[in-house]
Amino acid sequence: MSDQKIVFLGTGGTIAGKAANAFEHSRYTAAQVGVHELLASLPGWQDGSERYVVEQVAQLDSKDMGFDVWVKLAQRVAHFLAQEDVQGIVITHGTDTLEETAYFLQALLAPIKPVVLTCAMRPSNAVVPDGPQNLLDALAVAASTGSSGVTVVCAGAIYGAEDVQKIHPYRLNAFSAGDAGPIGFVEQGRLRLQRDWQRGRVASLVSELADAAWPRVEIVMSYAGADGTIVRALLKAGVKGLVVAATGNGTVHQDLEAALVLAIQQGVKVVRATRCAEGQLLPGTHDVLPAATGLTPVKARIALMLDLMQAAQTGR
Ligand code: SIN
Repeated sequence: MSDQKIVFLGTGGTIAGKAANAFEHSRYTAAQVGVHELLASLPGWQDGSERYVVEQVAQLDSKDMGFDVWVKLAQRVAHFLAQEDVQGIVITHGTDTLEETAYFLQALLAPIKPVVLTCAMRPSNAVVPDGPQNLLDALAVAASTGSSGVTVVCAGAIYGAEDVQKIHPYRLNAFSAGDAGPIGFVEQGRLRLQRDWQRGRVASLVSELADAAWPRVEIVMSYAGADGTIVRALLKAGVKGLVVAATGNGTVHQDLEAALVLAIQQGVKVVRATRCAEGQLLPGTHDVLPAATGLTPVKARIALMLDLMQAAQTGR
């Protein structure tokens, strides 16, 4: 067995949730059980083994995820990635904003080593909880030679941070990578890969993050009757960036578009992402608003926030 270390960072979620009775899968309280306790319940887990470093970074329902936890998590991940004897990191997280945290860490750190987020759809005290298997699968990915980048492991599949999206509110395999498909699968602790690991594309800002002001970037949606009132209210509130969750291949209601053009004229950065569940927006030559190709609205928002922070720091 390798003497390289695997780090486990706990942040809460359903994987750490508890229900009043073991048959209850939908009414429970997330983020009740510490990551040490979750690991201790795994078959064969050796408490105190020098191979594992375990740390509780946060304990929350991921619907309440915020910038403060992101900064702390990014700092701890960056700290451990820099240790020569650390092979990889596993992060336990709620499923609801998992894709946002995964994308944030990938965009910020673009790690060569594996950073594997995992989760559960059933609370830890369910009759048949899914968290323990997901944790074991995530450990297999983090410990596997050659695995790289930020990934999400759930229900036996490995997804890239840029592609992954929660697509189901209840079932155990709640995630998809759309057209990209999963990077691979974990089968009895072994990895079967379908394609290459994901590489990063944004320079690291992590050392500056703690002091940085997070720019207000909001998502507005185009739909029947979208008239731009929300955009005008956000301009008054001092918004710095707007992502429009556009219809189809990036089309925007003409009244909303007029308000977004006004926002650009006032110095606000605006990007379009498609509200379609699958596929990518194809930019055209006559587009009025720039496109965030390949990113969902929530990920386009993170990319825009990081761009704005970088611009503020470099003065460009
Ligand atoms: C959460 O996102 O923290 C709760 C829901 C879940 O983990 O499935």
